[in-house]
Amino acid sequence: MKRLKIFLSLALALTLVLPVYGDPTAATQEEQPPQLVDEASIEAVIDAMTLREKAALLVGGNKEVLEETDNEIIGDQATKVPGAAGQTQGIPRLGIPSIVMADGPMGVRISPTREEDEHTYHATQFPLPISIGASWDTELVNEMGNTISDEMRAYGIDLLLAPGLNTQSYLLNGRNHEYFSEDPVLTGKMTSAFTDGVQENGVGVTLKHLAAYNQRADNNVDSIVSQRALREIYLKGFEMAVKDADPWAVMDSYNKINGTWATEHQALLTDVLRDDWGFNGIAMTDWEFGARNVAKQMEAGTNLLMPGRPEQVDAIVDAVNSGTLDEAILDRNVEEMLRIIVQTPTFKGETVSNNPDLNRNAKVSRQAAADGMVLLKNEGNALPIDPDVSVSVFGTPQIEPMFGGRGSSLNFPAEQVGIVEGLDNAGFQLNKDLYEKYETYVEELRATDEYKQTPGNFFVSTFPTLPEMDVTEEAVTAAENTDAAIIVLASEFGSYGNDRSKEDFYLSDSKQQMIEHVSAAYRAQGKPVIAILNVEGPLEVVSWRDKVDAIVVGWQPGQEFGHALADVITGAVNPSGKLPLTWPVDYSDLPYADRYPGDGELVYEEDIYVGYRYNTTFDVTPAYAFGYGLSYTDFNYSHVRTTRNGQFKDKITIFTTIENTGDTVGREVVQVYVSKPDGKLEKPELELAAFGKTKELRPNQRENLKFELQAKDIASFDEELSAWVLEQGTYEVKVGSSSTDIKGTVAFTVKQDTIVEEVNDVLAPQVDIDRLSKGN
Ligand code: BGC
Repeated sequence: MKRLKIFLSLALALTLVLPVYGDPTAATQEEQPPQLVDEASIEAVIDAMTLREKAALLVGGNKEVLEETDNEIIGDQATKVPGAAGQTQGIPRLGIPSIVMADGPMGVRISPTREEDEHTYHATQFPLPISIGASWDTELVNEMGNTISDEMRAYGIDLLLAPGLNTQSYLLNGRNHEYFSEDPVLTGKMTSAFTDGVQENGVGVTLKHLAAYNQRADNNVDSIVSQRALREIYLKGFEMAVKDADPWAVMDSYNKINGTWATEHQALLTDVLRDDWGFNGIAMTDWEFGARNVAKQMEAGTNLLMPGRPEQVDAIVDAVNSGTLDEAILDRNVEEMLRIIVQTPTFKGETVSNNPDLNRNAKVSRQAAADGMVLLKNEGNALPIDPDVSVSVFGTPQIEPMFGGRGSSLNFPAEQVGIVEGLDNAGFQLNKDLYEKYETYVEELRATDEYKQTPGNFFVSTFPTLPEMDVTEEAVTAAENTDAAIIVLASEFGSYGNDRSKEDFYLSDSKQQMIEHVSAAYRAQGKPVIAILNVEGPLEVVSWRDKVDAIVVGWQPGQEFGHALADVITGAVNPSGKLPLTWPVDYSDLPYADRYPGDGELVYEEDIYVGYRYNTTFDVTPAYAFGYGLSYTDFNYSHVRTTRNGQFKDKITIFTTIENTGDTVGREVVQVYVSKPDGKLEKPELELAAFGKTKELRPNQRENLKFELQAKDIASFDEELSAWVLEQGTYEVKVGSSSTDIKGTVAFTVKQDTIVEEVNDVLAPQVDIDRLSKGN
């Protein structure tokens, strides 16, 4: 069996790899070089590698020069699987195959078609990660990861360039939608569950982007962050996932961290990632096309330069020959690469079906989309509505729904179900006249120069936002003739290569007018108005929310948008999503409002006070708090308690009972926050330490939940000691249905200051940061 596998992997490597490094005919029959057959063979293979072969393995093996076209999709450089983001260099002489990697956070991206090939190569489009974050459902994200891994295997992808898990600390970051949350614990647990789901199927994930990559406008920004904020906020999700789920790879971010490029950052990639956390995989660069110093990258612990240029191979060889780079560093990096390569399906010679079960996977996408939708408002139980009522849909996104998928989360599903199609399939009687008016309106605007769509492009927006149609008259007729109004509001969206602008946080005047007219007309008839937010992040809501009866955050939920939305508004699925980030009242409420984005450098002055940590500590009321979301039923929390009579020893277990006290089946996200005592270190008002989601509870049904908090889960980072510490004092565990709706509290004491874990004293900022503090 093993022999057959070796043969297959050799054959595959020989046929598919371009260009060939090393001369396969050079070895005489007597001198067959060692072959990579398993982990045990790695040492001998490295001994047999030439310097050039080592360098080649550490540089992506892609098209030599990028074609400069308008349609260039960055991350489209692979030759083995068309449209995949990249591949490594194979070395057939030694039995080392070229492995393939593909984006991204919403599912596999490869080209859906191939030249002279009738077959199609679509992949399922899942919801945006921000919407997955809103589900707080680790089982779901695990299943989603597992489903994506089936498609990876079907298409010959070894490594997924996802999940993205940067912190949503800055509201306008143009890439927030690719990440899960503003909170590291929610992020870390979702990432671990996703990673397990992918990797249990024998393919790998790439956690990205390490680290403190929080603005897009200037990818090369220097992120200046305190050690404490790094450890507690920006690195913690990565730390949790590395320790819990053993990811195959991480991707270094483009930016600098405290003066050093992430990809050249030895403290980050070796001292923290490997020494402190025990990472066993490979670190690759983001798609930086040779912009950095290869010797420094190699030394720092970056194993793989992506997407790879021949000059980088030369530069590595030159660095070793000139004595600026020790070949032993290459050996280390090569060994780590080979340890991952031997685990891949490509190495094992597995055949690809090119035929994933897209029908089955669409169901997972639909369930995930519905699970992440958040009900923000439901006055007078406006929702759910029966599908046999008549509805009028307002807003141009009904014609052009935003399914998601810009930048690295772009992918090519076989089908997408829009809002109107989904409602129609669910049986709603739709106002066809109004729909047709919108169709014509959008078509006419898109024919103008101002609003024409630019060709599909990785960086540039393909859909300049449209002004809304004047519906002064249409609203009155619609309100007379239909039972309910649905208004679809999309975010203003910028380009992938940029951040959102402050203006994008607010609804445009034409959208405000549409709401005004629809609201007045329907209220005059005593009929409900439901707003659907087709957004990639928070919007200003306070100025208009009183004019509607219900608000559902649909996010950009992937290919099953229409079906999932119909599931939620009809009550086929009772909404159970909760906000994974704070929705502020106004942009000016944010502590960094005047400082973002940075120009050359971004100083993280708000420090550990990110998102709800800021709002709850400094008494700033948000429009909707972190963790908030309504349901069609009610839940009662009782018996919030702990076993350990108020004393903390190594760990503490918290219990609570949740009962569905309403009359509809539903699920509840239960959140466990900790308020820590101020000591030498000041602490935020509260911090998420654990969470859980109930199963579907029938009316009157109860579920007992149990949460175990280890010392590390409630520790804080002390920069002076370079350690996670538990400071003495009284800790309060607050169990709630959001960060501002606490249902029960238990307290325990820690008798003396305790060092929980010492770590390398690295990553200090090069300048003083004027840190936000309770004292100033
Ligand atoms: C993005 C990564 C992505 C890569 C490959 C880069 O521009 O930052 O997230 O995985 O391209 O497509």
